[in-house]
Amino acid sequence: MSYVFQMISVERVIEYTDLEKEVPWEYTYRPPPSWPHGGQIIFDYINFRYSLDGPLVLKNLGAPIGQREKLGIVGRTGSGKSSLIAALFRLSEPEGDVKIDGIRTTSIGLHDLRKKMSVLSQVCTLEHSHMFFL
Ligand SMILES: Nc1ncnc2c1ncn2[C@@H]1O[C@H](COP(=O)(O)OP(=O)(O)O)[C@@H](O)[C@H]1O
Ligand SMILES: [Mg+2]
Repeated sequence: MSYVFQMISVERVIEYTDLEKEVPWEYTYRPPPSWPHGGQIIFDYINFRYSLDGPLVLKNLGAPIGQREKLGIVGRTGSGKSSLIAALFRLSEPEGDVKIDGIRTTSIGLHDLRKKMSVLSQVCTLEHSHMFFL
């Protein structure tokens, strides 16, 4: 590795030490093993930013998504599609409630939340209606 690349690596590691910490993986409150049973998602007028001093990237976003509903999210680059998923996975903590089958995502540990969700990235066939373009 060249000297320049080594210095860039050092710079990256220093940047990572500055990242805000994630909240705990497990909370005392655990969702029932059967959760989520229906797949209803309610974004209850949330605000979302990636870092404490960063700009709001989702503002007052409200959306009810019914059980087993298939939903396409479209919008130009930078409109917030990926941020919606970031808020769902709590890459940082949203203000306001996101509820999945009646449970507030911020009331459970990150592991309990994330182990029940998956993301298919850049699935570009139009034959299937369940697509996320991230
Ligand atoms: N990891 C991130 N950290 C900080 N800001 C981000 C990050 N990812 C996206 N953003 C910002 O959030 C806004 C929405 O972007 P994004 O959700 O990626 O849009 P889309 O997926 O629709 O292209 C943009 O202003 C973008 O710069
Ligand atoms: Mg995106």
